[in-house]
Amino acid sequence: MSKEHTLAILKPDTVAAGNVGNVIRVLEKSDLRIVAMRMIKLSLTEAKGFYAVHRKRPFFQSLCRFMSSGPVVVMVLEGKDAIDTWRNMMGPTNSEEAPKSTVRGQFGTNIERNAVHGSDATETAAEEIAYYFPGIDLI
Ligand code: CMP
Repeated sequence: MSKEHTLAILKPDTVAAGNVGNVIRVLEKSDLRIVAMRMIKLSLTEAKGFYAVHRKRPFFQSLCRFMSSGPVVVMVLEGKDAIDTWRNMMGPTNSEEAPKSTVRGQFGTNIERNAVHGSDATETAAEEIAYYFPGIDLI
């Protein structure tokens, strides 16, 4: 696989804990490049739109309340196999099970407050990037 883009979100727990710089440092030491970045506060409706694929899941309401509870940092990451590379750096979804060598293991708390998000496939990455960076011109 050649150069790829993925969406990363530093979730409200990461921003509230003052860990934005720490996650950026991890990224800057990696083979991925941050090519776009914004800090935003999601409305409940925007959070529900972003996580619509999970709308039937029991955790949906709580997840969306959490994601709209404070500012987040959204980023586009670029690199070779960026989607899998970032997912491996994040670690498992549940921070309680994530190794300390991973971002979720180091900065997250549990399965909901898990510090960061990453796209899971090429199509979702394109949709998720467009959700937060409409019209962005990625080469
Ligand atoms: P994320 O990678 O942002 O994608 C969907 C999110 O839903 C996931 O991280 C978790 O924060 C959350 N999530 C997934 N499964 C559960 C669960 N069983 N209980 C609570 N939250 C969950």
